[in-house]
Amino acid sequence: MANVIVIGAQWGDEGKGKITDLLSKSADIVVRYQGGVNAGHTVVVQDQTFKLHLIPSGILYEDTECIIGSGTVIDPQVLIEELDQLAALNISTENLMISQMAHVTMPYHRLIDQASEQKRGKRKIGTTGRGIGPTYADKSERTGVRIIDLVNANNLHEQLEWTINYKNVILEKLYDIPPLDPHEVIQEYMGYAERLRPHVVDSSLKIYEGIKKKRNILFEGAQGTLLDLDHGTYPYVTSSNPVAGGACIGAGIGPTMIDRVIGVAKAYTTRVGEGPFPTELDGDLGEQLCDRGSEFGTTTGRRRRCGWFDAVIGRYAVRINGMDCLAITKLDVLDTLAEIKVCVAYNIDGVHCEEFPSSSLRFARCEPIYETLPGWRQSTAQCRSLEDLPKAALDYLKFLAELMEVPIAIVSLGASRDQTIIVEDPIHGPKRALLDANGAPVNHQPHDSPHSPFAN
Ligand code: IMP
Ligand code: MG
Repeated sequence: MANVIVIGAQWGDEGKGKITDLLSKSADIVVRYQGGVNAGHTVVVQDQTFKLHLIPSGILYEDTECIIGSGTVIDPQVLIEELDQLAALNISTENLMISQMAHVTMPYHRLIDQASEQKRGKRKIGTTGRGIGPTYADKSERTGVRIIDLVNANNLHEQLEWTINYKNVILEKLYDIPPLDPHEVIQEYMGYAERLRPHVVDSSLKIYEGIKKKRNILFEGAQGTLLDLDHGTYPYVTSSNPVAGGACIGAGIGPTMIDRVIGVAKAYTTRVGEGPFPTELDGDLGEQLCDRGSEFGTTTGRRRRCGWFDAVIGRYAVRINGMDCLAITKLDVLDTLAEIKVCVAYNIDGVHCEEFPSSSLRFARCEPIYETLPGWRQSTAQCRSLEDLPKAALDYLKFLAELMEVPIAIVSLGASRDQTIIVEDPIHGPKRALLDANGAPVNHQPHDSPHSPFAN
């Protein structure tokens, strides 16, 4: 039995969809714990490509239960489109559960997201425009609409009438947008409520019951560590907590229930939207990575910015998430390169820096310090074990693992399920130990202190 969190170690789009799909095979329950329809997971099964925004990719396995947890924000229109898409492909969605505590993205959230981006001018975030930030802002402001309100007609009328009139003032006065008709919106959302009601549950209780029955539970993060509201490259972040700690809050379970954290990172780096990106490649090489890696956003179709692997943020992601092991994806995208660079440290105003700077102003001034490794210039798409890999590719992976002090458990060499090397069991393999200055493992167990009444 294991309860496992899968998180993105970079700025999202690391290929978590494929890794969670692989791990879902042995999961009984898959839980999405934060984010909304800003996320986009592409999963390729045989010849079919599935693009999912909210429904965990575990839905593709018949017996896996899927939960959209309390920490998510749900755009019901998009969720229903996803349900329809899966139904058209004869994939059952009976096992989908939705938390009654999740917040609902409303039309005014989308309008305000897009209009505020325009108003920001040069200070824009480059959001997906899906209303994510305003939905979470309302949650914090305590004017949000939850799924429980949506499926309760009396609540919905009363609450939405007040909220829409309030939001109309903001739309009209601040953004010059025509007001919404509360009754039209209420009618529209009552229709969504009918459709979603059978899926609505007390999800934290379902998860707790699953834990008690020793079911295998996979907690699926969306976006990535550097997009985390608290620990990412603020303000160029999303409005939720994609980091592993977010899984406990978003799913409604305690930290003691988690057995393992698996990180996912691309063999290079991409970022979509605005914000600093020290290893970004502007010229031909960036184009080449983008083309070979098909780096276009699943949700917005935007071209992703591409650059070299950044081991400073990699190491940071290992620390912030308490990562036990790493999956490296899209190694095959580097197949044609003669040389590959890896950022091992930053130069910030002439000072050598090996840790991610928590000051966004300093991060914006980082100049990458690179080490250059030889490329392998041959296809790895057919490799199925470490022995199949060219030596230079193996050396590249070893170099990354050493820099980040984390074992690499999975290597992915293409979109399909079989283009994967399992280096060690990501769930039951040895847990990563912290090492002290002498290289000795540091004990994760409670310290016996002579002052503790429980010490023997
Ligand atoms: P928002 O989440 O739509 O508010 O966008 C905030 C930032 O997060 C922008 O830079 C988006 O491009 C980025 N972002 C949001 N979701 C994803 C994702 O799933 N993959 C990659 N970037 C994302
Ligand atoms: Mg994505």
